[in-house]
Amino acid sequence: MNHALPSRPVRPRRSVLYLPADNARALGKLPGLCCDSVVFDLEDSVAPGAKAEAREALRRFFMDGRAAALPTGMETVIRINALSSPWGGEDLLAARGCKPDAILIPKVDAPEDITAVEDALEQTDAPAGLRLWAMIETPRGVMNAGQIARMGRTDGARLDCFVAGTNDLLRETGVAALPGRPFLTPWLMQIILAARAYGLDVLDGVFNDFKDEASLMRECEDGQAMGFDGKTLIHPAQIAPANQAFGISREHLAEATAIAEAFAMPDNQGRGVISLDGRMVERLHLEMAERLINKAARISARRDGDQQT
Ligand code: COA
Ligand code: MG
Repeated sequence: MNHALPSRPVRPRRSVLYLPADNARALGKLPGLCCDSVVFDLEDSVAPGAKAEAREALRRFFMDGRAAALPTGMETVIRINALSSPWGGEDLLAARGCKPDAILIPKVDAPEDITAVEDALEQTDAPAGLRLWAMIETPRGVMNAGQIARMGRTDGARLDCFVAGTNDLLRETGVAALPGRPFLTPWLMQIILAARAYGLDVLDGVFNDFKDEASLMRECEDGQAMGFDGKTLIHPAQIAPANQAFGISREHLAEATAIAEAFAMPDNQGRGVISLDGRMVERLHLEMAERLINKAARISARRDGDQQT
């Protein structure tokens, strides 16, 4: 049986900032920020009466050259309203026209929610490189996370990343929002496991109290230890802590480099397993090491920007 997953471009997604699309000041601030990705939001942060205005503001931002002038490497994502809502259809058309890197689908309950967007994109000849991200933030979404992640399994699939929607999950389940997230954590781990089973990236939910940097840092460190690739954020002040917590340490980079160099030695090239400094290292470790080295190179290309926060 072939367990190989389709290979995806490696992208750092340490810090992923939501930006309400109708907030002109926030749009103006974006070029000076050093988040790895930005999610222009048309969904929950935009009031029902402001949806059309937000969509237009976003169209202008992408059409008049401001999006193209964002710092190199900053990934652009547009969160649309659900297709089942009164705004979803128009949002999807607008988002596709903006040509972002990805579209984020909210409140994904089942694989059909992804298929519906994929089908709509096919009908408009969307570029093959346009990715889809999925918010897992409902009880059914968590229960179906494995089946949803499986949508990313095939080579032509657009699904690339899961985002845990913790505020919605708390609201829909009645679970208490406690420091350390003791009751939420089992579901977050389930989301991470599903994403990993099918090779998707996975991002942690937001931390609402944007003035409390110490607690944010703790939650970022927890998220990193749980296996998340990065954190979704609501405020520019949260970018630097997330970049730090989800960054690649010198030790990890040195270890990955040693593994890559060891497998590249003539004697080791055809081997599945080798010994390195008294430890067993398998070829699967080589793949992980190569992804990490690749990600570190992309982070280092952005490092100048990191100094700006
Ligand atoms: N992206 C970019 N810039 C942002 C920003 C964001 N998410 N949030 C705040 N800023 C900017 C502000 O515009 C302000 O810039 P200015 O000095 O040029 O005016 C600066 O950062 C400082 O902002 P501050 O005054 O501390 O916060 P605020 O009161 O303006 O905004 C929030 C607070 C929470 C309303 C705002 O951060 C926000 O809307 N965040 C995103 C919420 C969201 O998208 N939720 C949906 C997903 S959970
Ligand atoms: Mg939500």
